[in-house]
Amino acid sequence: MAQRVRGIVAPGKGQPVRIETIVVPDPGPGEAVVEVQACGVCHTDLHYREGGINDEFPFLLGHEAAGVVESVGEGVSEVAPGDFVILNWRAVCGQCRACLRGRPWYCFDTHNAAQKMTLEDGTELSPALGIGAFADKTLVAAGQCTKVDSAAEPEVAGLLGCGVMAGLGAAINTGNVGRGDSVAVIGCGGVGAAAVLGARLAGAARIIAVDLDERKLATASSLGATHTIRAGDTDVVEAVRELTGGFGADVVIDAVGRPETYEQAFYARDLAGTVVLVGVPTPEMRLDLPLLDVFGRGGSLKSSWYGDCLPSRDFPMLIDLYLQGRLDLDAFVSETIQLEGVEAAFEKMHRGDVLRSVVVL
Ligand SMILES: NC(=O)c1ccc[n+]([C@@H]2O[C@H](COP(=O)([O-])OP(=O)(O)OC[C@H]3O[C@@H](n4cnc5c(N)ncnc54)[C@H](O)[C@@H]3O)[C@@H](O)[C@H]2O)c1
Ligand SMILES: [Zn+2]
Ligand SMILES: [Zn+2]
Repeated sequence: MAQRVRGIVAPGKGQPVRIETIVVPDPGPGEAVVEVQACGVCHTDLHYREGGINDEFPFLLGHEAAGVVESVGEGVSEVAPGDFVILNWRAVCGQCRACLRGRPWYCFDTHNAAQKMTLEDGTELSPALGIGAFADKTLVAAGQCTKVDSAAEPEVAGLLGCGVMAGLGAAINTGNVGRGDSVAVIGCGGVGAAAVLGARLAGAARIIAVDLDERKLATASSLGATHTIRAGDTDVVEAVRELTGGFGADVVIDAVGRPETYEQAFYARDLAGTVVLVGVPTPEMRLDLPLLDVFGRGGSLKSSWYGDCLPSRDFPMLIDLYLQGRLDLDAFVSETIQLEGVEAAFEKMHRGDVLRSVVVL
């Protein structure tokens, strides 16, 4: 029997979100219904609300979540009712060219639930990133559920479902930061702060945090940044070079995603170094760089979607490191809130007051 639960719906472009009753069908073949326990508020939810992703309103927001599997449909063997899971937006297909080449983190055909959740009047909802977890329960493809150690608190575990994974992975997967490397991270919100943590985990010797906001720099320092640069007052490129013996950093991670920060990242890296773009630009943004500098400086210019993570490989490993006290994920939970608080949480995020507000259900 379909269930009726509460969910946070974005009804139209730029309109405030509201709580609605949503209808969650029983899981069909390959699907699972998950009782959501916690879901973080991510910038991407706000992008959806503002119509910045697509026009498929109404959206069921929320995608950074952990919970317990309630029921599974036919043919599901990877998870079972009662499993504690983190929801992911990369349920790899195993069949596409990327998967067959052994690069499933580039999968072109990741799975979502085939059935639709709806409003009570039958209007179909578009779940954010195929998840829709600002809701008591949600319907996903079973492959979107990654089982992890249930000793982790849901409000912490859920963070790995999006922004924190993107930041950690930008450093450890995409940037391939190694022991002794110098790393600069531009923009130290939830994603950038996680990149600082990832750089530290990977053994970087020098980690330079760059942000406009002193509060973000203070958090970055507590997570392992060895130096901080207050952008706005300072020439970021010069400052990074000064802190790296005049060379620039081995890896520079742009966790803002604007032409000016990308250009800083490009010039703040050492010859043959790596730039990782993990902040998401908007469609009108353009980049203008001398092609000769692109050639002459060598190295690699990479982008990182979801931290090039493979949920089945990375989530359980990162939760284990967290439980061993080796990965400070607690620092990312700035506050826990109720479903009613999502709209206010968007404002706090906008003002930079929080790394993450997390809805607990
Ligand atoms: N690639 C992915 O898979 C992925 C996943 C999740 C989020 N993101 C993106 O990552 C970006 C960051 O997300 P977040 O949650 O950390 O956002 P956030 O708003 O919490 O953090 C952004 C930070 O950048 C700082 N900043 C802004 N302009 C700056 C500048 N010119 N120089 C230095 N610092 C500056 C802000 O002060 C803030 O601390 C967003 O674009 C988001 O959409 C990407
Ligand atoms: Zn695939
Ligand atoms: Zn997100």
